[in-house]
Amino acid sequence: MYLTPEEDKILAGEYGEGMRKAMEILVAIGKIYDAERLIPISSAQISGVSYHNIGDAGLEFLRDFSRGAKVKVKATLNPGGVDLGRWREMKIDKEFMEKQGEIIKIFTSMGIEPTLTCTPYLVGNLPSKGEHIAWSESSAVAYANSVLGAYTNRESGISALAAAIVGKTPMYGMHLKENRRPGIRVVLKTELRYRSDYSVLGYAIAKKTGHSIPYIEGVDKADLESLKLFAASIATYAGAAIFHIKGLTAEWMDFEAPKDYIEITKRDIEEGYGFLRDEFREVDMVWIGCPHTSLKELEEITRLLKDKKVATELWITTSRQVREKAERLGYIEVIEKSGAKVIIDTCVAVAPLLGKFQTLVTNSAKAFYYSRGVNRFKVKVANLEKCIDTALRGVWV
Ligand code: F3S
Repeated sequence: MYLTPEEDKILAGEYGEGMRKAMEILVAIGKIYDAERLIPISSAQISGVSYHNIGDAGLEFLRDFSRGAKVKVKATLNPGGVDLGRWREMKIDKEFMEKQGEIIKIFTSMGIEPTLTCTPYLVGNLPSKGEHIAWSESSAVAYANSVLGAYTNRESGISALAAAIVGKTPMYGMHLKENRRPGIRVVLKTELRYRSDYSVLGYAIAKKTGHSIPYIEGVDKADLESLKLFAASIATYAGAAIFHIKGLTAEWMDFEAPKDYIEITKRDIEEGYGFLRDEFREVDMVWIGCPHTSLKELEEITRLLKDKKVATELWITTSRQVREKAERLGYIEVIEKSGAKVIIDTCVAVAPLLGKFQTLVTNSAKAFYYSRGVNRFKVKVANLEKCIDTALRGVWV
């Protein structure tokens, strides 16, 4: 890989140990993927924040790596494993909370904003079309490439951190236009009524197309919230870093529709819901906010919960910034008066909740995958209204 004289100096340690180590990581990745050179990035989004996921080994690595290292570009953080202000309510122990606090402090000491959200694009980390970035949260990567038209690979937490420190990333994969070309046309033959339908659509497309980049026709409208649910789902089930939707996403006009095609019918969506629903009736928890909820979703939840009481745990995960806005608008008071919790800085999938709950209802197919995989819950996916109704009843009917 070609390095400029300046980049060579960084690699030789002339700008300090922090920059040298970060550059070493980027050069190693660039060589593996045959990148020609490094390109400047405008922002980074860093995962690997939850102590539940990285453990003591990850914490030790961060302590060492952060010495003398500072980020050069805007950099934000993915959710950690706990809402530091509500660890007791989340049934999480003090030691975990303290270790999580230390991890966040280390990231902050490097100049990274402790946004602790998987929706950086809702809290000011909003790249424009054509900007090169280094993001690692898979749902945000799919959203950024597809909806915003930014250019990012699915970075690991470490490679995103190294890119943030150097301000550059190796030019390969999604940074090259030809790799963003769709491989299969997906013709939607049914109406999508609820946002959760978009989430199930991600699963249904993945089931039929595997890992090809889809070019989707027949989706007439989709709000930001539907697209973030879809992005999270297709990133989870198809490993997609990008998708194109005719008439809606940033680059659909740049490519011709592929000749090979599949259809998605009402039956595919129904079968998707069938797969995404484990057997159970008693519900321990309802979770909304995978990816983190927007202000609009909180407003809708407020309407559904006004003057009502939940009969089960209802956790709504969002970012600190969105929660603060919702607080000013009076939404949080109404929601929490019902007994629900609006939790920040974390998500159910990266929190240590194994054995603390058994059954979960959610409106996100991604939440289905990770809640089953990480916390071994039984899970059902349903639309938002049904999720809230289930929280009010305490049982699935
Ligand atoms: Fe975000 Fe956690 Fe879902 S990081 S996308 S809420 S699994």
